[in-house]
Amino acid sequence: MSGPINIGLLGLGTVGSGVVRLLQQNGGAIAQKLGRPLKISRILVRDRHRTRQVEVSPDLLTTDPETILADPDIPIIVEVMGGTGAAREYILKAISQGKSVVTANKDLLALYGKELFDAAEASGVDLFFEASVGGGIPIIHPLKECLAGNRIRQVIGIVNGTTNYILTKMSREGRDFAEVLKEAQSLGYAEADPAADIEGDDAARKMAILASIAFGTRITYPDVYREGISNLTAQDISYAADLGYAVKLLGIAREDEEGIEVRVHPALVPLNHPLAAVSDVFNAIFVEGDAVGETMFYGRGAGSMPTASAVVGDIMEAARNIQHKTRGRISCTCFYDKPLKPMGAIITKYYLRLVVVDRPGVLASIAGVFGEREVSLASVIQERMLGELAELVLITHRVREQNMQDALGVLAGLPVVKEIACVVRVEGGESG
Ligand code: NAP
Ligand code: HSE
Repeated sequence: MSGPINIGLLGLGTVGSGVVRLLQQNGGAIAQKLGRPLKISRILVRDRHRTRQVEVSPDLLTTDPETILADPDIPIIVEVMGGTGAAREYILKAISQGKSVVTANKDLLALYGKELFDAAEASGVDLFFEASVGGGIPIIHPLKECLAGNRIRQVIGIVNGTTNYILTKMSREGRDFAEVLKEAQSLGYAEADPAADIEGDDAARKMAILASIAFGTRITYPDVYREGISNLTAQDISYAADLGYAVKLLGIAREDEEGIEVRVHPALVPLNHPLAAVSDVFNAIFVEGDAVGETMFYGRGAGSMPTASAVVGDIMEAARNIQHKTRGRISCTCFYDKPLKPMGAIITKYYLRLVVVDRPGVLASIAGVFGEREVSLASVIQERMLGELAELVLITHRVREQNMQDALGVLAGLPVVKEIACVVRVEGGESG
């Protein structure tokens, strides 16, 4: 067996520790598969004296990136620091030095993907990022390679582990949002700033990456419409369950004749849809291609070892390519410049909860506002009385978003409508 391939690890937090642990645990078998062992020869951290989640020799730790980036004996850099500042600088520097890069950093890819892929192509090195979407789930390689012969119609995913964990615990155990979020943080699922999970930003970054690959056109994070889960109440989750739906934070990317839509928002998903059964930290990505039909990729979407699984797979591929002198085989696949649909043009169903005055004729006036804007109601339930007021839960048929927004604008001005308490899209049923 030849000598080891050296790896420079940038970051030793949740994911970095998992990478070290996995290489310690399965290093022998990995060396057999590659014909050479992998060796972590240097690790960049901010604080060398911090207690670590994994045992490493203190001599490996450094706070000086140059000792890694300028070392000609390190051909692979693994970036698991996070953020878009230093991480971007170090990755570009590594690429310019002819090093292949493995990263889990969706924030960076969803903003600066083009710059990074162009740089990797110019230097003829690999830039792999399987862990950036879906934690341990293989989805980037399948989209770029196994499904490359398809025209992809849609990608619908539960791509944030933290919010799926929170929604599962809220709906099954009736637990408090803040308490469950703390638990998700302690399990290493949440981002450094958990608002990125809660407000849908993390999922939007992942959907920008998936949509770019699926449709062959560059979608960046600001292109993705997003709403988070912070306005959902236990009451709405419970009403949704009574109506036969689970509430999930969905990422949706679709292409049709009008263009591409990419959006992240909470959605009611019918309980018989496969995505409704995806619970806790698990993620799932439902992909529909013209040849393959429907496929679904499922697994743990966050956490130390599942994410390390994806990172180590990428390291092994980069190492194999180095051995076979074939780096940079699959570079950027954004060949087109396709139009993005405005949010007003999307078509979907809606769940609405309204608080209204309880007197004859109120329902008719609300139905009239919807009818004038071609919003057709599939069901209306009077859930409970709130003193003098009544709570209505409505589900619509499929309608253009702009018509619904217009109707909501008029309803908000009706004296008999006291509150538009909740508006959530309904997805995953017939025709979407
Ligand atoms: P983390 O636990 O906060 O760890 C970050 C590590 O990077 C720490 O070891 C930190 O050093 C080091 N670091 C950060 N900035 C640095 C700088 N400027 N200079 C030197 N070292 C620096 O983060 P994580 O959860 O492992 O996430 C890492 C990346 O993976 C992020 O891009 C994240 O989005 C992505 N990701 C995470 C998960 C997950 O489940 N956590 C899953 C998929 C992808 P110190 O330890 O000394 O502070
Ligand atoms: N914070 C992310 C999540 C980590 O909860 O899904 C995995 O990317």
